[in-house]
Amino acid sequence: MLVNATRMLKEAKAGHYAVGQFNINNLEWTKAILLEAQELNAPVILGVSMGAAKYMGGYKVVAAMVKALDEELGITVPVALHLDHGNYDAAKACIEAGFTSIMFDGSSLPLEENIEKTKELVKLAHDRGLSVEAEVGSIGGTEDGITGKGEVADPKECALMTSLGIDFLAAGIGNIHGIYPANWEGLQLSALADINAATGNIPLVLHGGTGIPDDQIVAAVKNGVSKINVNTDCQLVFAEATIAYCAAGKADPTAANTAKGYDPRKLLKPGFEAIRAKVKEKMTLFGEVGKAN
Ligand code: 13P
Repeated sequence: MLVNATRMLKEAKAGHYAVGQFNINNLEWTKAILLEAQELNAPVILGVSMGAAKYMGGYKVVAAMVKALDEELGITVPVALHLDHGNYDAAKACIEAGFTSIMFDGSSLPLEENIEKTKELVKLAHDRGLSVEAEVGSIGGTEDGITGKGEVADPKECALMTSLGIDFLAAGIGNIHGIYPANWEGLQLSALADINAATGNIPLVLHGGTGIPDDQIVAAVKNGVSKINVNTDCQLVFAEATIAYCAAGKADPTAANTAKGYDPRKLLKPGFEAIRAKVKEKMTLFGEVGKAN
């Protein structure tokens, strides 16, 4: 059931658990995540970066694919289709294309401009029933060409951004997209507690969900995080499972007993199953299993 992310995240905040945002790259990714969420009776957010949308053929293609899969697979758990780290033009395009949620990432803009553009997009999105995420204090690392410095957000700026009517807020607390370096200092949990206190009841978003130790995830949820973004983890397990399948010679057309293992439906299956297993592991950690209603 395609919905915006407002209600599922308010319920997560009140219930002290988090909803996973899993980024999608293609049909296999989308189907794996939807089927696992349905199996676990958990709400889910499908994240789409600007780069991934371009790869899949554009925002309209993504929206049509997700809507059709949701219907044809009989998905009844709440599913939000969310633009991840969108610029102003991408946010507008997704509102038109039929997404149910957008993230406007104005964190690289001067604060005044970030505020003006966020206000305008909140109005446009809310008029059409979409939810809106904004960002303060950039997330470190690079994702699909978007690079952030990794600043810790200022609680006053977070409160200001929250007052613009956004539905959930991504606040940098030392989190990084991609694989964490060995010398990473961990999440700044006291900064998170300050941000949570300054922003009232708004659901907070933790980007860079891959590689954060489980105890820090649990502590972040206790301190107001209600949405956790995971991308690299699914990419890693998909690649690993596909490589193992090929290394075992299963895709080799000349080998005996291959039973046409190069057929894409067979070749991509181990990766598909690996994504399902990763989504299950993360949803269980986030405490959202059985929370769909
Ligand atoms: P990871 O790739 O580090 O899991 O981060 C995902 C993310 O934050 C998407 O916005």
